[in-house]
Amino acid sequence: MAGSKKKFYYTVAKTLHWFAAFIITFNLLSGWRLGGFPLNQKEVLIMIHSGIGVTIFALMIFRWWWRKTRKLYTPPGWKKRPSMLLQWIFYPLLLIQPVIGVIQVAYIDYEVRAFGFINFSALAADDAKLHGLFLQLHGQTAWLLIALVLLHGLDRSRSAFI
Ligand code: HEM
Repeated sequence: MAGSKKKFYYTVAKTLHWFAAFIITFNLLSGWRLGGFPLNQKEVLIMIHSGIGVTIFALMIFRWWWRKTRKLYTPPGWKKRPSMLLQWIFYPLLLIQPVIGVIQVAYIDYEVRAFGFINFSALAADDAKLHGLFLQLHGQTAWLLIALVLLHGLDRSRSAFI
C-alpha cells in the first residue's frame, strides 16, 4: 500500500516536471521573438507569454510543496550531490523570473493583461528607463536558465547511461 502510494506521488511529480519543462522551454524560446511584432499582435502574444509565466510561478510553488511534503527525491546525502543541487536552483530562479517579468511589464507603455484580465501594466506609471532595466534583467535570467537547462539535460542523460 505504502509502495503504491509513493509510486503515485512520483508519477504526479514526473507529470508536473514534464508539463513545467514544456511550458518553460516554450517561454524561453519564444520570448526573444516578442519584440518583432506590430503592437496589436504583440499585445496578444505577451498576454499568452505572461499567462504562461504566471502559470510557471504557481506550478513551481505547487511542485516544491508536493516534493517537500511527500519527501520525494531525497536519497541519503542528497544535499551534497551537485546534480540534486542543480535541480533545486531551478525553483528560486523560476520564481524570480516571472516576478521580474511582472515588474518590467508594470513600467511598459502599452497594455499587458495576463490571461486577458490581470492588468500588470496598470501596476505602475510608464517608465522607459526602469522598463529597459528590468527587461535586460529578464533577458539575462533567461540566458542563465537556458544554460542550466542544458546542464541539467546533459547531467540527466549522463546518469541514464551510467
Ligand atoms: C518563467 C517565466 C518566463 C520566462 C522563461 C520568460 C522568458 C522571456 C524571454 C526569454 C524573453 C526575451 C528577453 C529579451 O528579449 O531580452 C522575454 C521577454 C518578455 N517577457 Fe518573459 N518570461 C517569463 C515570464 C514573464 C512574465 C510573467 C511576464 C509578464 C507578466 C513576462 C513578460 C515579458 C515581456 C513583456 C517581454 C518583452 C517583450 C519585448 O521584447 O518587448 N515574462 N521573456
